[in-house]
Amino acid sequence: MKFSSFISASSALAVATAQQTAYGQCGGVNWTGATTCVSGYYCFYQNAYYSQCIPGTASTTAAATTSTQASSSTLSTVSTSKTSSSSTTSSAASSTTSAITSYAKTSGSVFTINGKTEYWMGTNAYYIGFLTNNADVDLIMSHLASTGLKVLRVWGFNDVTSTPSSGTVWFQSFVSGASPVINTGTDGLQRLDYVVQSAEAHGISLIINFVNNWTDYGGMAAYCTYYGISPVTGWYTSTAAQAQYQAYIAAVVARYKTSTAVFAWELANEPRCSGCDTSVITNWITTTSKYIKSLDSNHMVTIGDEGFGLTTGSDGSYPYTTGPGLNFTTNLAISTIDFGTYHLYPSSWGEVDTWGNGWITAHATAAAAIGKPVIMEEYGSLTHADEEPWQATVLSTETAGDLYWQYGDDLSTGETNDDGYAIYYGSTEYATIVTAHAAAMLAKAV
Ligand SMILES: *[C@@H]1O[C@H](CO)[C@@H](O)[C@H](O)[C@H]1NC(C)=O
Ligand SMILES: *[C@@H]1O[C@H](CO)[C@@H](O)[C@H](O)[C@H]1NC(C)=O
Ligand SMILES: *[C@@H]1O[C@H](CO)[C@@H](O)[C@H](O)[C@H]1NC(C)=O
Repeated sequence: MKFSSFISASSALAVATAQQTAYGQCGGVNWTGATTCVSGYYCFYQNAYYSQCIPGTASTTAAATTSTQASSSTLSTVSTSKTSSSSTTSSAASSTTSAITSYAKTSGSVFTINGKTEYWMGTNAYYIGFLTNNADVDLIMSHLASTGLKVLRVWGFNDVTSTPSSGTVWFQSFVSGASPVINTGTDGLQRLDYVVQSAEAHGISLIINFVNNWTDYGGMAAYCTYYGISPVTGWYTSTAAQAQYQAYIAAVVARYKTSTAVFAWELANEPRCSGCDTSVITNWITTTSKYIKSLDSNHMVTIGDEGFGLTTGSDGSYPYTTGPGLNFTTNLAISTIDFGTYHLYPSSWGEVDTWGNGWITAHATAAAAIGKPVIMEEYGSLTHADEEPWQATVLSTETAGDLYWQYGDDLSTGETNDDGYAIYYGSTEYATIVTAHAAAMLAKAV
């Protein structure tokens, strides 16, 4: 079931001489298919579970024969191909000098970014890695920088269940009857490469997320359909789904392991496991965060959860309960998690906007007790002015940073999508809710 009819047919003929097609799998634990690639491609070792045919020529020993770990020469192959692919593009971000010269790290209840320990504001532009025009990416980065926003959260996943036509960006496919494919091509992770490169040039730090709880851009459901996992909460404990999820993480981490523009790796967007014991998600966080740290000790790791399951400051309302399958304090205490995240959407949770102030205070208090920073990494009200009292609460509590949902701008393709929460660069409310608050955060004394 995991093997496509193409592979079965060719292995029946002669496995040893068959050549894998572009972007096809060519190695990994228990892989029995082709281990060499068609002309113009070579077998690139990503991790023990996955090698893939990517464009170019191997500068080292055939990747598929590398057994247990990515060598530094393999990694330098990645950065070389990254540099050469980006050097074919002309843009403001082609400078190789990074505006950020050190890795971001925690410093008590706050962070040190590029040598500066300060509070900051950021935002979300989940879509930036899916843009096909480099100038649009650079425009957003330059606007973030001139606004004084420090951290941008983006989707580092884009899972599809059928292979889109050329020109549509996707990062990983789960096509029934074929092996999962990690797309490192020009419509694939090379788009994320450009985001990282532009962030480096503009001094913006990135939170890069690996999978969605929701079905937008595939998510856990894409894995579950492919592997026959039902209900979807089985994703967290499925060996097959977790092996592929880790293969995907390894592929992304290998590309930016030495980039100082990466602020943190993030396990998932809004993971929930309704009806599950909280140990299910806690175990998954422990395993995955340890795995990422084993691949990359340079960068921080965080969860990407909404902050559910909190005794501190609880008013007994649903978000404070463990109903969605999470215990905020237990998860934040995991040693391989560097800082906490939570989101704030009172209207989606059956609460009024003023309820949000207690939510912010409760998380700040809980995180301080554990001794790690916490960020409000998504927040939004359809009445944008209601976000201002929340920002005042952020400033008066021990909250390291806040990232509003979501950044809007006017690109070559027109205005970015508005889900009702977008605040557009250059608008009147951008000045009051974004520019003014960004300045207030940076001005707050540490
Ligand atoms: C590889 O095959 C062995 C033997 O069938 C099995 O025990 C092991 O779980 C497989 N490994 C993976 C990663 O599928
Ligand atoms: C994502 O969250 C929703 C809402 O709780 C839930 O229905 C769905 O099952 C979640 N996904 C997974 C994989 O549990
Ligand atoms: C989270 O787990 C801790 C430790 O077991 C427990 O004290 C706390 O009450 C739990 N939180 C919730 C909201 O149940």
